[in-house]
Amino acid sequence: MTYPYGPLPDLYPEQEALFASAAATYARYRPGLPDAAVRLLADVLRGRPSPVLLDLGTGTGQVPLALLSAGAALTHIEAVDVSRQMLHQASQALHPFLGDCTLTLAHAAADAYEPLATLPGEPDSGPDLITCCRSFHWMNGRAVLEMADRVATPGAAVAIMGDGSLWTHEAGWTRALREMIQQYLGSERRAGARSSYAEPRRSYEEDLADSPFSDVTEHLFPVTRTWMPEEVLGYLRTTSFAAEKLFAERHRAFEDEALALLRAHAVDGALVEEATFRVLLARRPGGAR
Ligand SMILES: C[S@@+](CC[C@H](N)C(=O)[O-])C[C@H]1O[C@@H](n2cnc3c(N)ncnc32)[C@H](O)[C@@H]1O
Repeated sequence: MTYPYGPLPDLYPEQEALFASAAATYARYRPGLPDAAVRLLADVLRGRPSPVLLDLGTGTGQVPLALLSAGAALTHIEAVDVSRQMLHQASQALHPFLGDCTLTLAHAAADAYEPLATLPGEPDSGPDLITCCRSFHWMNGRAVLEMADRVATPGAAVAIMGDGSLWTHEAGWTRALREMIQQYLGSERRAGARSSYAEPRRSYEEDLADSPFSDVTEHLFPVTRTWMPEEVLGYLRTTSFAAEKLFAERHRAFEDEALALLRAHAVDGALVEEATFRVLLARRPGGAR
């Protein structure tokens, strides 16, 4: 089932345009979720009579895909994104794994989302787990958490998670790469064609503390990723800080120079990223509505 397409008033046209061009490469080059984080999310759903997942900023469907692949017995998935191209990729990725699980693709801004139909899970219809993976910083956090409170079942959890990026990662090769991007695009971190990246005004913990989901636990999962230099170029094309269109006619020159830099830093042809995947798991105090 798909949310009706058409101009929805609360969509964010700049964010939609930003992610539209990245959708196809995103599916190929973006790392998935660490297994231990997926197990944590699956545990949240265990014991629920008919578990429903609401994934906000689903992108190519990494979160529902990981849960389905890990055998989480989901009854229904609501996958929300401002980008139709991302939803298309998510649909293609998820369909082979759905089995009896139903899927709704919701083309909507997360804070403006509302379920079109009654969700499974009588008597407590609604999501049991609401996830924002590498997406909360794009959203109006307070409004998203208010929406979450309106739709979530009693005892539901909200998971805000992510692992930084190759821009923020501190290793010799990522520092050198960042400096090269800055030589081409200027010192400020870009966030698409027209804007610079702005650090979130408040931490996610502050947003959660002021929300109905104020009972928060933090879970940290170290991840070691190995990149081939060409994969790093593919990844960069999916980012808001080094997307192809930011470089315009200099993109080819940038990629040639970046490839040479990455090959020079590689050890046995590969580059290592030691990342930490962080999950903030938040519930209403005492499981209250
Ligand atoms: C960095 S991607 C993360 C995708 C996926 N969750 C993952 O971890 O691979 C961020 C996604 O959030 C979507 N997005 C950005 N702003 C949004 C908003 N206000 N509401 C819903 N989705 C949004 C983008 O279109 C994009 O697909």
